[in-house]
Amino acid sequence: MNKVRVAVVGAGIYGANHIQAYAWNRDVELVAVCDFKPERLAAVAEKFGVNTYTDVNQMLAQENLDAVSIATPDAYHLEPALAAIMQGKHVLIEKPLATTIEDARKIIAAAEQHNVRVAVDYHKRWDPAAINLRNELRLSTTGRPIRGYMSMDDVIDVPTKWFDWAHHSSPVHFLGTHCYDQIRWYMGCEVEEVYAVGSKTVLKERGIDTYDTVQAFLKFENGCYWTVENSWIFPSGFPKANDGRTQILTEHALLKADSQNRGVEFYNAHKCRTPNSYFIIDNNGRPFGFGIEPINDFIDCLIHDKPFIATAQDGLEAEKIADAVHISLETHQAVKIAKG
Ligand SMILES: NC(=O)c1ccc[n+]([C@@H]2O[C@H](COP(=O)([O-])OP(=O)(O)OC[C@H]3O[C@@H](n4cnc5c(N)ncnc54)[C@H](O)[C@@H]3O)[C@@H](O)[C@H]2O)c1
Repeated sequence: MNKVRVAVVGAGIYGANHIQAYAWNRDVELVAVCDFKPERLAAVAEKFGVNTYTDVNQMLAQENLDAVSIATPDAYHLEPALAAIMQGKHVLIEKPLATTIEDARKIIAAAEQHNVRVAVDYHKRWDPAAINLRNELRLSTTGRPIRGYMSMDDVIDVPTKWFDWAHHSSPVHFLGTHCYDQIRWYMGCEVEEVYAVGSKTVLKERGIDTYDTVQAFLKFENGCYWTVENSWIFPSGFPKANDGRTQILTEHALLKADSQNRGVEFYNAHKCRTPNSYFIIDNNGRPFGFGIEPINDFIDCLIHDKPFIATAQDGLEAEKIADAVHISLETHQAVKIAKG
């Protein structure tokens, strides 16, 4: 079987994981990487021996590709995604699919028109704890879900130091869409109505015009109510860059998951660290974990013509919730979500 010829657009913090995954995938030939930043391209070219480009259209014109991964900043997925789709390439897009419903619909329409497939990297669907919890929810002994709580929070270094585009995104797009997607996947139905509150104080004072924290209340079609909390201002001293908690009360059970409690605690004179042993682990150079599996699954689904686990339609549904959350934050009103 021929290898799948792949390129990655965006060689930043997360694009590096796509590049590593493809470099180790025996079914893939990692052909090219595109980024605006020459220093990032130089490092990638040296390590992986791939062709590099600063212009996605030039890359698509010069390289013979089957598929493209898009790992550009949240608000900038549309342009490279459309460029790749219009050249007939299958696409894996980092979460969120887009930061507007309009962008998400354009990606879906273009994929239909050009007969290509689009997957979204909602990697929490591959987290063993999340899969375990979803399996438990499906047992008749668990009963109907009645109430849910999910939080996902980042330390303040993420929007202030990790990247320079936080003001073009929000904790809702960056973290909330992960939660909305995961909860839709747990519930097996859609959100009907949203109400949200949030504050803009700490980051705004640092010149980053976005929300510090947002609490959203989601009413699902099955009658289950969820509270979702996302913030970008956890203190730097927190033992991990990210924190996530879930608690679901069902007819007959209480289900809990916690991203801190993942098997290891590292202490030194200054700090305790609790890295997530299941996310992305360097195993003698080979990346491994639920952050890598969706990228390998994208290739597997292309080769074997299997449905993607998280599709562009899933990306659109999560973005519809994010959009309703932002409208509710501004209007202080509950917002209904239309079907379709
Ligand atoms: N950082 C994380 O922990 C994390 C985790 C999961 C998912 N993601 C998602 O991955 C995506 C990228 O995030 P990141 O943290 O890697 O950001 P980043 O800023 O580290 O990297 C983005 C890269 O994209 C490049 N770029 C922007 N527009 C481009 C274009 N049109 N063509 C070529 N290159 C372009 C930039 O030069 C930059 O190097 C985001 O959608 C984010 O939500 C990030």
